[in-house]
Amino acid sequence: MFAYRDSTALITGASKGLGAAFAKELASRGMNLVLVARSIDTLHDLADSLGAQYGVRCVVLQADLATSDAVKRIVTELGSLDLKIDLLINNAGLGLTGDFLSHDLAEELASIQVNVQALVGLSHALGAKMVSRGTGGIINLASNSAFQPLPHMATYAAAKAFVLHFSEALKFELRGRGVQVMAVLPRADGDEFLRGCINQDEGRCVRQRRACGPPYFAVVRSEKVRRLSWTVQRARRHLASSSAAPQRHG
Ligand SMILES: NC(=O)c1ccc[n+]([C@@H]2O[C@H](COP(=O)([O-])OP(=O)(O)OC[C@H]3O[C@@H](n4cnc5c(N)ncnc54)[C@H](OP(=O)(O)O)[C@@H]3O)[C@@H](O)[C@H]2O)c1
Repeated sequence: MFAYRDSTALITGASKGLGAAFAKELASRGMNLVLVARSIDTLHDLADSLGAQYGVRCVVLQADLATSDAVKRIVTELGSLDLKIDLLINNAGLGLTGDFLSHDLAEELASIQVNVQALVGLSHALGAKMVSRGTGGIINLASNSAFQPLPHMATYAAAKAFVLHFSEALKFELRGRGVQVMAVLPRADGDEFLRGCINQDEGRCVRQRRACGPPYFAVVRSEKVRRLSWTVQRARRHLASSSAAPQRHG
């Protein structure tokens, strides 16, 4: 049984959305938090309110995970604060909507840096410490789009496929070493999700959705994909209860 009280979780992308929801839920269970994102004022507001409401310690670290030295700086900061991380939640993520070739290459590469490189870097740095202590957990936010290519969000879906496969392989490698790894696959939350995409101009998103037409949403939201993911999850849970096979969640 995971002991939340007096343990510490580091959550990337904690300033809003699912990251903030993770922070609230874990704080309510008594967990201390390290909140990471770019929006420092929002993080401080969240940290203050969770600290006051639940009496947990919340440390705020401002980091742009699209920069190549972000992980190193976070790890250095954790060391200087003498903070040990028991649960890592690699939640920060973003997707560009529209044709791949219409995007600025730097933006595409920056999204991969956040969705993939930072997640791998933190898993490596903090995962090694967890293994040396023989305990810990890593939760990586993938997406239901990890199951298929996604035209008009090409690098996003490919990055999430990476996250899913990476998490499953890591889970397998770390079995028996006290560190649990899990991939979460939220189903795309329609309008809300598209508002969170990097092309934040809402009108442009709507135009892109219309231009993409029904097949676009069929890919993201089809019953077939949902059924597939549920089937995979149920099969994995069944396997996990009888062996150390990897699990998918979400
Ligand atoms: N919501 C959905 O429907 C859905 C579906 C499938 C998968 N997911 C995945 O679930 C995760 C959370 O999604 P969400 O909808 O909650 O996202 P969101 O509301 O857009 O929030 C994204 C978070 O990531 C942070 N972030 C973005 N770029 C960053 C950067 N360069 N450096 C540091 N932090 C950065 C943002 O903080 P700052 O802007 O303050 O830096 C924010 O806290 C993502 O990985 C997403 O791909 C979500």
